[in-house]
Amino acid sequence: MKTGKRLIPIWAIFMTVAFLLTMAACKKEEAFINNDDTIIIGFVIETMTVERWQLDRDIFEAKAKELGAKVIVKNAYEDAERQDQIIRDLVAQGVDTLAVVAYDKESLADAVKYAHEHNVKVIAYDRLIMGADVDLYISFDNYEVGRLIGQSAVDNVPEGRYLILNGAQTDNNAFMLNEGCMSVLQPYIDAGKIEIVDETWVEAWRDEVSYQYVTDKIEQGIEFDVIIAANDRVAEGALNALSENRLTDQVYITGQDAELGACQRIVEGIQDMTVYKSISVLAEGAAEIAVKMAKGEDIGDCGLYDDGKYMVKYIAYEPVAVNKDNINEIIIKGGFYTIEQVYANIDKENWPEN
Ligand code: GAL
Repeated sequence: MKTGKRLIPIWAIFMTVAFLLTMAACKKEEAFINNDDTIIIGFVIETMTVERWQLDRDIFEAKAKELGAKVIVKNAYEDAERQDQIIRDLVAQGVDTLAVVAYDKESLADAVKYAHEHNVKVIAYDRLIMGADVDLYISFDNYEVGRLIGQSAVDNVPEGRYLILNGAQTDNNAFMLNEGCMSVLQPYIDAGKIEIVDETWVEAWRDEVSYQYVTDKIEQGIEFDVIIAANDRVAEGALNALSENRLTDQVYITGQDAELGACQRIVEGIQDMTVYKSISVLAEGAAEIAVKMAKGEDIGDCGLYDDGKYMVKYIAYEPVAVNKDNINEIIIKGGFYTIEQVYANIDKENWPEN
């Protein structure tokens, strides 16, 4: 009788094979390694908590798919280091082009360099990456966004006390917007017609932050007639603070993005304006260019923008100011939202005839 040789039970063989197959599947999922002809675009977004980025993602993905490309979407969860690592991982895995919505304008130059060293072109999607020599910065005219906000405020409140809530200091768009806005306000300030009672930069454009800031100002007894809110989320937080203090009616308040909530507030007379930026135009334009870049094709004529170190190609789409007078025309007839969505909180007899 032979000894020392143990028979392996059949269930153990099954378990081992199943384990190995699972491992192989996981590995494939983790590192896709691009080795076929399909164009793969990495889309790295700073966060998914902002309504508009979800729309940007969906439209970008749909357009890329229509053009035969695949999109891998990654969320950086408002974490600069994580975003840097995601970019490097996608490059290592073989993406053809990268589109990046930067969380922190200053922190991604090295990751972009790494992409360039591996012949991967990088599109700064909606937000510029500073000192990185990106292959394209595609966005809206963010200076004009600020100008429209400032103009609407002075048209409605040419004399008064202004509280300014800028966007995030980590986002170059916030500075472009502030510059555009100040280009309108400054002459009024110089003439003594407008007084800036206080100004802040809202961390990560969060509504909780703007809520707390405006609450503090009210508690400190600071009075104001206008809130320059750099986007609709910032406006939402500010408006919550105003409404808790029954001040909503007394303050002219701006916004940006034409978020559904903001459009509803405009028809309800709670928020005074927002700035509409066609996400389809941006997302589809960027997806088309990402595919062109992957194929090594020319991307056509662009403007230029200074990233602090290099002049980079810049495509800037036009924003539109929206208020209660043109919301039906721009937002509803323009097809961004339906009348049912925008007027959800208003009695039907008061809806406009479209
Ligand atoms: C900006 C962008 C705005 C707004 C904001 C907060 O960069 O231009 O549209 O969404 O980020 O996410």
